[in-house]
Amino acid sequence: MFDKVEEYKAMIKAAEVKAADDLEQFRMKFISKKSVVTELFNDFKNVPNDQKKAFGQALNELKTFAQEKFKTLADSLDNSSNESASQGMDLTLPDVPNENGSVHPLTITRNKIIEIFERMGFNVASGPEIEEDFYNFTALNFPENHPAREMQDTFFIEKNPDKVLRTHTSNVQIRMMEGGKPPFRSIMPGRVYRNEAISARAHCFFHQVEGLYVDKNVGFKDLKQTVYHFVKEMFGENTKVRFRPSYFPFTEPSAEIDISCFICQGKGCNVCKYTKWVEIAGSGMVDPNVLANCGIDPEEYTGFAFGMGIERIAMLKYQINDLRLFSENDVRFLRQFQGTF
Ligand code: PHE
Repeated sequence: MFDKVEEYKAMIKAAEVKAADDLEQFRMKFISKKSVVTELFNDFKNVPNDQKKAFGQALNELKTFAQEKFKTLADSLDNSSNESASQGMDLTLPDVPNENGSVHPLTITRNKIIEIFERMGFNVASGPEIEEDFYNFTALNFPENHPAREMQDTFFIEKNPDKVLRTHTSNVQIRMMEGGKPPFRSIMPGRVYRNEAISARAHCFFHQVEGLYVDKNVGFKDLKQTVYHFVKEMFGENTKVRFRPSYFPFTEPSAEIDISCFICQGKGCNVCKYTKWVEIAGSGMVDPNVLANCGIDPEEYTGFAFGMGIERIAMLKYQINDLRLFSENDVRFLRQFQGTF
């Protein structure tokens, strides 16, 4: 019996723990109700009377020794787990700030345009950026020798038959009308390409939003009212709109859309070049030839279309003076739009 007490004492003394599991095993073996120490207590009755006192004392000592050791082992485990969590870390340093990105200003502007037109019942459509000559030019009533088809304006991917990088989003009008039946009421945002020298005011690629509304009895008044509503939503209630006669092969009549310069409120400034007006879009009534090219009867249906540059709108709205900033990825520029949606 006394041998056992000594044997367990030695085991307890030598015990080490590396993890919580080891500690639990120690507890089961030496502390719990089913422990070897409890077993010895149960054997107490078999001890000869003259040894009872000494054995009882030895057992109590063993029990206390096991409990103390358990406490020491538990403490050592706590410390070591704290140590490993903080290893190589200075917990007094300030927190690392959460680096949120920002939505690109062209995306912000595009989303805002879409939101306004969606409220007027327009849906969103898209089309290819690499386009057949037919959809970019021919179906849109561009005469065979129109200068826009020439090499200096257009990026050609293939010749005969011609494939081009689309020079405007008007190709999506054709793809929509060709594949469906009126009414159409859609806006079509997307990237377009032109062979231009890159400067603060021009780039070889930029973005447009095309609008198309074709139905029975659609008139110029509908175009005007739609544009009025859009401009007030986008630039503010007091913004004035002006339709200036113009020419596009695919609309007749055609008009450029100007808005009153909301930066100087009509006093004259750099943005409007002291004209008090800034141009935001081209527009017009869809030419009957275009409807016919798409298999739509121009005697039954009419429609209006417009196309505006997203960069142009963003530059006006956020007073950005260089088109190149949109594609340079300079975080000092992009960061300024943090929190804007
Ligand atoms: N596609 C024309 C452009 O890129 C804009 C436009 C679209 C004009 C629709 C009229 C109608 O300049």
